[in-house]
Amino acid sequence: MRHLASSLLLASLSAFALAAQPIQYVESRKIFLLTTRDSSYAMGVDLNGELQHLYWGAALWRADDLPAAVPRRELSSFDPPAMLEREEFAAWGGTRYYEPALKLTRADGNRDVVLRYLSHTMHDNALDITLKDIRDDIQVVLHYRVYPDYGILERSATIVNRTAKPLMLESAQSATWNLPAGEGYQLTYLTGRWAAETQVNHEAIHQGMKVLESRKGHTSHNINPWFAIDAGDAGEDHGSVWFGALGWSGNWRITVEQTPYRQVRVTGGLNTFDFAYPLKAGESLDTPAFYAGYSAHGFGAASRLLHRFEREQIAPGGLTSRARPVLYNSWEATTFNVTEIGQKQLADTAAKLGVELFVMDDGWFGKRNNDRAGLGDWTVNPQKFPQGLKGLIDHVNSLGMDFGLWVEPEMVNPDSDLYRAHPGWAIHFPDRPRSELRNQMVLNLARNDVREYIFGFLDKLATENNIKYFKWDMNRPLSEPGWEDQPVTDQRKLWVDYVRNLYDILDRLRAKHPKLEIESCSGGGGRVDLGILRRVEEVWASDNTEAFDRLRIQEGFTQAYAPKFMSAWVTDVPNMNGRSTPLQYRFLVAMQGALGIGANLNKFSAEDTAMATKMVATYKRIRNTVQLGDLYRLYSPRNGDIAANQYVAPDSRQSVLFVFRHSQEYSTAPPAIHLQGLDPRALYRLESLDNKLVERQPQLSGAYLMQAGLNVTLRGDFDSTAVILEKVQ
Ligand code: DGJ
Repeated sequence: MRHLASSLLLASLSAFALAAQPIQYVESRKIFLLTTRDSSYAMGVDLNGELQHLYWGAALWRADDLPAAVPRRELSSFDPPAMLEREEFAAWGGTRYYEPALKLTRADGNRDVVLRYLSHTMHDNALDITLKDIRDDIQVVLHYRVYPDYGILERSATIVNRTAKPLMLESAQSATWNLPAGEGYQLTYLTGRWAAETQVNHEAIHQGMKVLESRKGHTSHNINPWFAIDAGDAGEDHGSVWFGALGWSGNWRITVEQTPYRQVRVTGGLNTFDFAYPLKAGESLDTPAFYAGYSAHGFGAASRLLHRFEREQIAPGGLTSRARPVLYNSWEATTFNVTEIGQKQLADTAAKLGVELFVMDDGWFGKRNNDRAGLGDWTVNPQKFPQGLKGLIDHVNSLGMDFGLWVEPEMVNPDSDLYRAHPGWAIHFPDRPRSELRNQMVLNLARNDVREYIFGFLDKLATENNIKYFKWDMNRPLSEPGWEDQPVTDQRKLWVDYVRNLYDILDRLRAKHPKLEIESCSGGGGRVDLGILRRVEEVWASDNTEAFDRLRIQEGFTQAYAPKFMSAWVTDVPNMNGRSTPLQYRFLVAMQGALGIGANLNKFSAEDTAMATKMVATYKRIRNTVQLGDLYRLYSPRNGDIAANQYVAPDSRQSVLFVFRHSQEYSTAPPAIHLQGLDPRALYRLESLDNKLVERQPQLSGAYLMQAGLNVTLRGDFDSTAVILEKVQ
């Protein structure tokens, strides 16, 4: 009943918030109030013309309630007013000692910048506020975009050099987010490494600064550009959570800072490390989009806000995009040993299982028989594919499946015709070592000739063949980032221009081939962020396909990203860690995202085939719920021996519960699993995948399922089950 009452209250507040104008401006006190369904955000211009943050939290509806921004007084000569204020976008200048959002050097060496409000424009759900330096015509346009129905606010900045002289930018951030004044905040963030991505970290924020970043030229496996901050008391289903995610696939940085004045500030955008971006007179730089939101209902609700926003506002096609097909990928079955005959054989079996998209991975081109040669030579290997790709693609299509192809466009092996023809295209400093990783170097994609070369061969492949899907891989970070053809002042633009050109290629390819779908892979989850997600349908969350490890990787992944984008394969055992889990367990883990199969189908027994066929058919029944629905993380695989996730369809008619047990002890029964997100007054028909459901009643009410919970019988090691619930009309 308490739940019901609070959800009614929430509904009426949401209705208020939705009825409120998304952007309100009070001219008399120069206050801006931005409102979404779930949150409001406010700032105001003070008497000195500084843009001060005023509010970020649950939804408000009346801008007149907010106090005007007021300049602060000096606390001591060591604690100047600027340090006590909450500027929206502070440049480094005056008496500011915290992390600035902008830092630059003028041609004459002068580095002081103090920004004041100049003007603003509002249109639809967008607000642009222009700030200007107190002396020079250096302007910063702060872009705010409100997504009222999604609970998300987007910020970025354009730095404009309107002076007659060049400037060198040393820090160009997208936004600073100020939290309500207070102490006891906790930071949640995602860290990892290759094959161990998106591990959840949760720790107290203390005075000082925590830096989350990538210096590797791609988003990186090590830290993902997402954060959540709570007041120290939030859980999956309760408590205030402020969260944000950056849309940038290169060097990024998010600092989480607690000042000595109990102020927590989060500043993020382009990494300042090795950053120097020149702006000639009249030039400008746009910083990446930084999205953020607030949930009063815990980490689960925060994730659900982001998931829906990503699916409907970020991903290509948004609401009109199709559900992800069931995919087969050849990598773990054949590695580089791909041949037309071998791939056709795998395709025959994959089609029988119900696979819809057959993807041929690495090994099909140039002299690519191992990882020592071939990258850069994107022509079909005639020994392996005597008829070109056509023979295989026609066969795959005749089986009713689409065809997808692996590429790694940004890379080159020294043993390749491309490298022999263009050694200068590989990123390097002159007369210095060119470090190889996996025997490969990175092409300087910041160069426009490299960009055109890459666009050219991908366009040719997509034009000449019936390719519906590219798996775009990137198997090493950048290093020794020299760009010798550029003037010295421009060489470090590489970090930014590389990513710009990557986005440019993806955008042009998609425009020219509207039916083409793309997967972002970077040796697993090395390039997963909201910048790349604007341009791809799926991401490869990890090269680690071992199902138990995957549960934790997927738990972290879904903090920030929707299950629809999470490509997840069923592969052979023993797998990483030497671990063997049952085929059903592997399927149920992978069915919580975009299901794929990466096993060697030639080794499947009759039982495996029967199990796989059943699971693929089951997945097709529930995939709209998994991919488009709301995810409730009920039991974390990090705590105890049970993991459980529940998905509720957008129209609430179907729900699916997945439960896993990794090691039973003392014959203990699993706990009752309290479902969420159901209609308490509705009846649900229960369908157990494998008779492990203790409840024998064919139907139960939503209220009972949420309050009393469901019980399942899971025994021993790596047991699993799923229950499908259909709402009775
Ligand atoms: C790394 C990817 O993550 C794998 O799935 C596979 O595509 C290999 N590269 C191929 O080299």
